[in-house]
Amino acid sequence: MIETKNLTKYYGSLAALQNLDLHIGAGEIFGFIGPNGAGKTTSMRILATLLDQTSGTAFIDGMNVNKNGKKIRKLVGYMPDFMGVYDDLKVFEYLEFFAAAFSIERKQRKSIVQGVLELTDLQGKSHAAVDSLSRGMQQRLGLARVLIHDPKVLILDEPASGLDPRARIEIRGLLRELKNMGKTIMISSHILSELEEICDQVGIIECGQLVFNGSMEDIRQKMGVNRKVRVQVADGQKDIAVKLLNNIEDIENINTENSHIAITLRETKKNEGIIAKTLVNGDINIISIEPEQLNLDDAFLHLTKGLVN
Ligand SMILES: Nc1ncnc2c1ncn2[C@@H]1O[C@H](COP(=O)(O)OP(=O)(O)OP(=O)(O)O)[C@@H](O)[C@H]1O
Ligand SMILES: [Mg+2]
Repeated sequence: MIETKNLTKYYGSLAALQNLDLHIGAGEIFGFIGPNGAGKTTSMRILATLLDQTSGTAFIDGMNVNKNGKKIRKLVGYMPDFMGVYDDLKVFEYLEFFAAAFSIERKQRKSIVQGVLELTDLQGKSHAAVDSLSRGMQQRLGLARVLIHDPKVLILDEPASGLDPRARIEIRGLLRELKNMGKTIMISSHILSELEEICDQVGIIECGQLVFNGSMEDIRQKMGVNRKVRVQVADGQKDIAVKLLNNIEDIENINTENSHIAITLRETKKNEGIIAKTLVNGDINIISIEPEQLNLDDAFLHLTKGLVN
């Protein structure tokens, strides 16, 4: 549904995007992650037909963004990173304004506005001034706005930035709902963990280049998390447990950390049954055996190099 090939953008001599290749399937949620200045907004603005690239191509639903601007703007809901200020405009007026801008007939505007207000849980605020809304509500209003023309594709530039934890969870819920409605969603963030639960795919961008593209499972594989297991045994049995574990071929490495034994298996953790079996056979009381959790901050630092554009 969204595709870029060798997409490149220069601002003067600054390469903001370099040969970006993205492929986002229909109905997917794609998390676009990268530090400040990585090129997220630049890519999204090109896809939303608001900015011309220097070279390369971009397609939405098979249409070249440079040749089908009007059709693409109907197909895409783009939420910018900054909403702007709307003095004295009430929430419903704001949405009706955009409904008119999308040439939605006057008769239908009210019910469509009502529909997006319900979806974004803003019904109670329909007569409030836009500028009086809290940040979280403004973000939801931004989403309501991009849903007005029922676009198939949503391009959302940091919709969760500046939100408190509850509001972030609410936005995630809303995005899931939109995915269930069949929409394709591209969403940017600085924070990998923020998108972990909802994304089918993530692309990590740094200095205009894609440094990783794959699923969260691929990130786990890449970080070797699937091979790590933590074991806790009864007091005083740790040394004997380590001795027993040392005899297991499938284990690559054993470290003891405080009360835990950290084990790295040679391949995937489908072999982790051998750990329990060996310990039980050796009369060790096992308190817990659990897979290592993926530390997303570590993953992010590992996948990016900390370069500055
Ligand atoms: N209009 C512009 N003129 C000149 N340089 C620009 C312009 N817009 C962006 N840049 C530069 O292009 C690079 C990419 O910027 P972009 O806004 O796409 O990054 P971003 O990933 O969205 O960052 P952030 O996380 O801070 O929003 C940066 O180095 C930025 O300074
Ligand atoms: Mg940005």
